[in-house]
Amino acid sequence: MDSPVFSNREYNLRNGFTIPLSYTLRNTTDVLAHPRWLLGVLMRYLLTTGMPRYENYPAEVKMRITARPMGRALMLNDSLTWDDVRVLRELWPRTLMVKGILHPQDAVLAADCGADAVIVSNHGGRVVDGALAPIEALPEVVDAVGKRVTVMVDRGFRRGTDVVKALALGADAVLIGRSTLYGTAAAGEAGAARAIALLREEIDRVLALLGCRGVSELNPDYLVLPPGMNHSGVRQSA
Ligand SMILES: Cc1cc2nc3c(=O)[nH]c(=O)nc-3n(C[C@H](O)[C@H](O)[C@H](O)COP(=O)(O)O)c2cc1C
Repeated sequence: MDSPVFSNREYNLRNGFTIPLSYTLRNTTDVLAHPRWLLGVLMRYLLTTGMPRYENYPAEVKMRITARPMGRALMLNDSLTWDDVRVLRELWPRTLMVKGILHPQDAVLAADCGADAVIVSNHGGRVVDGALAPIEALPEVVDAVGKRVTVMVDRGFRRGTDVVKALALGADAVLIGRSTLYGTAAAGEAGAARAIALLREEIDRVLALLGCRGVSELNPDYLVLPPGMNHSGVRQSA
């Protein structure tokens, strides 16, 4: 909800990343310098399902990552307001989640618009580099709307212990972005599965070390919150 314009990704300018992907001397030599990845990941895709596609896009805009042009598929809308969320709510009969919440008042507005869930997120820190870390915003959002809507969080959850901390702060779920992407980049689907398995093992282990039989037993008492991070512990009584 909070990306009305493109962010200024200087690292993409530096490393030559574009959408669609363009072949450069640098990325071509990089791939050639990693024959195991070339054969085990890229070649496997090319020989089975073909060049990777934007699987989450609708069929009419789904395309190979090297295809042109992206056209409207990547265009952003800089005129969205909360009224649009209300309209979406009327049009969309299924679960509606509002992503990109970092302020408790926005979470309240999303709930007032009829959202079923809010996702406390800064889009992986890829939009405003100085934005608040979602884990820091989470307690106040849980306090504000935790009894009304599902509260999820993402950004920076790399370890099972990170996930456990967010659940203890009252998140209903933690979403994972790059952890599985790193796995995918390293070894395709098996790599993503491995990343998930690592997270699961770590969550199980830290729960056992805390003396919890499951995530439902977690609450803020398991954490020492840094100064200034207030939490009324809305989920404690849940
Ligand atoms: C390559 C990439 C593309 C992303 N594109 C979008 C996007 O189009 N819209 C969006 O809301 N978030 C986008 N995100 C953010 C993710 O949906 C998610 O919020 C974030 O990756 C979670 O943080 P994590 O990667 O640290 O787990 C993107 C993240 C990555 C790494």
